[in-house]
Amino acid sequence: MQSSNSNSPLEALRPVLNLLADGEVHSGEALGAALGVSRAAVWKQLQKLERYGLGLESVKGRGYRLPGGLNLLAPAAIEAALQPEARDLLQQLILCDEVDSTNAQLLIRMEQGGGHGVAMFAERQTAGRGRRGRTWVSPFSGGINLSIGWQFSGGVQLLEGLSLAVGVALARALAEFDVPDVRLKWPNDVWCRERKLAGVLLELSGDLTDRCAVVVGVGLNVGLRGDSAAAIDQPWIDLQSVRPGIDRNQLAAAMLNRLLPLLRDYPERGFGAYREAWLALDQFAGRPVRLQSASRAWVGTAAGVDMSGALILDMDGEQQVFHGGEVSLREAP
Ligand code: ATP
Ligand code: BTN
Repeated sequence: MQSSNSNSPLEALRPVLNLLADGEVHSGEALGAALGVSRAAVWKQLQKLERYGLGLESVKGRGYRLPGGLNLLAPAAIEAALQPEARDLLQQLILCDEVDSTNAQLLIRMEQGGGHGVAMFAERQTAGRGRRGRTWVSPFSGGINLSIGWQFSGGVQLLEGLSLAVGVALARALAEFDVPDVRLKWPNDVWCRERKLAGVLLELSGDLTDRCAVVVGVGLNVGLRGDSAAAIDQPWIDLQSVRPGIDRNQLAAAMLNRLLPLLRDYPERGFGAYREAWLALDQFAGRPVRLQSASRAWVGTAAGVDMSGALILDMDGEQQVFHGGEVSLREAP
């Protein structure tokens, strides 16, 4: 397996970030000495850091610090926490400091014929994407932004329900860290305490009737700073507020440990192997909900999902099944 830290404008700032990651106060002089540069050069670097919204504080007469510190992703630490099965399945691990969207980047690779078994993480996405052109807010080191590329043969119908199964895999990874109150919201969200903790975005390319490629994208909030989160237009939550202190590298590895075997086995196992687990975590089970498409809405009681992962709505005693796509599920007011 190969691993790499990709090039980015932040690459040059990594050494100073690594020093500040402990959250302690560092004087300009000490930073300069550790980095082998002048104080003026340190100051320039710190100024550049500002644009990453890390909340760098200047402590009068003493120096600089990043309140709360930073728990940076590191390929070696992720790899060290992988189980043998995941290590065998993983072809390449890429960590980008900054990228437009890990899904977009991996889709390009898949379209060029590479990308199978590649896991790409990004500390920050400048154009993180959600479903239907929506934005995924992904500030520097605020969460886990991960995309995995996988090639399948046998057509896209074998992937039915995959985004729900990915939700189950994420819930299992979070359970390893005793994260409480994790639930799944159809079709592609992980919720915690009635708020969105993570989202899943599957993107496909290739021949949808035969050999096709999927990019599985996951964005999971670990610790979002208030100013960056202001752009999120629905209730959200991060791990820091429910289970502080989870190591991001351990969590990243736990996600790969769950997701890579899932992708390998999915064409054979299908959603049927995950349905019971999904139902046990159903955020809206038995609750009144509203399903909204661009042109109309349905109101009913959420009655779980069928063997393909389609949503079942109970409307005045009649059950109707909805496949994913251009619909949004919300609790009915
Ligand atoms: P659905 O339409 O299926 O109900 P949704 O409203 O959650 O899903 P998605 O496209 O799945 O929409 O996800 C994108 C949305 O997620 C954004 O429009 C925003 O409301 C929200 N969002 C963006 N970034 C974050 C984040 N870091 N944490 C939580 N929620 C986010
Ligand atoms: C959603 O809830 O709509 C899905 C959000 C998916 C976000 C992840 S972050 C990693 C990957 N790269 C992206 O641009 N999007 C996904």
